[in-house]
Amino acid sequence: MRLTARVPATSANLGPGFDCFGLALDLCNEVTIDTGLEPGISWEGEGEDELPTDGTDAVSRAIVHTLRRQAKLHPGAAIPPFALHGVNRIPLERGLGSSSAAAVAGTALASALLGDAGLGDDPYATFACAAELEGHPDNAAPAVYGGLTVIADGHVRRFEVAPEVVPTVLIPSVRVPTEHARGVLPERVPLVDAVANVAYGALVVQALVRGDLDLLRVALHDRLHQAARLALVPEVREVFERLERSIPVCVSGAGPSLLAFPSDPATLPELGEGWRVLRLSPRSRGVELIAGPDGEPASGSSRTMNV
Ligand code: HSE
Repeated sequence: MRLTARVPATSANLGPGFDCFGLALDLCNEVTIDTGLEPGISWEGEGEDELPTDGTDAVSRAIVHTLRRQAKLHPGAAIPPFALHGVNRIPLERGLGSSSAAAVAGTALASALLGDAGLGDDPYATFACAAELEGHPDNAAPAVYGGLTVIADGHVRRFEVAPEVVPTVLIPSVRVPTEHARGVLPERVPLVDAVANVAYGALVVQALVRGDLDLLRVALHDRLHQAARLALVPEVREVFERLERSIPVCVSGAGPSLLAFPSDPATLPELGEGWRVLRLSPRSRGVELIAGPDGEPASGSSRTMNV
């Protein structure tokens, strides 16, 4: 059996929606497992020289996590040996959801390999399993569902973004691990700041769904996390401050990338050495499973692979 999981990059938070909003972007990793090949792990693209090949990578951990979880419900559930190859397009440690993409890919692949002992067809099960392992449901939700997602106490709501909303991701060369970017945040925040984020957050959803970029420029305002994160990367803060005067912009996830929404990308200023600029449409589809050339069905729900 040969099966590929295609899973999108995601930008969490979207300004005020700290730890609850996420947007899927049209930049996908593809992870293929093949049970007919010699077992092994290989990578190409982003992180190809640094990602582990000993089974401690995030995709493999998600496969093991899903298997262990399902084996409690279906004693005897097992996954046959496989070769794993990842084609990575999502830059690592830039606030674009590469860890969640890996967790979702591994979860979806494991579920398919488990067949009747897998997670079934409800995307919520894939979301919950991946988020439980990776810890960032605001990235896992859009990676599974596509579109714009809002998490509220474990509930997921998905919204379609208006076609005129085409974000540009500004990716600096500097990397910031998410744990580090979370470590600079305060334990407690003033009530007025929390209230402001609730109000702005409601406007962000409306602006993205309606395609109202004027409203979005105001709505992306945040009082909980962005300032502390931008302080970690002064060169990014300088670009952010230049852009926010005229263009809707926020920190992408925990940073350091920025997510900007220029109506005309030509209006973006020259950013200089080391920056990558990608214009990426929101992606409507979340994780997809693609069957191998032998024509096997891509859905794992109706097959039994238990050994
Ligand atoms: N909401 C999370 C954070 C996203 O901002 O830390 C992590 O990717």
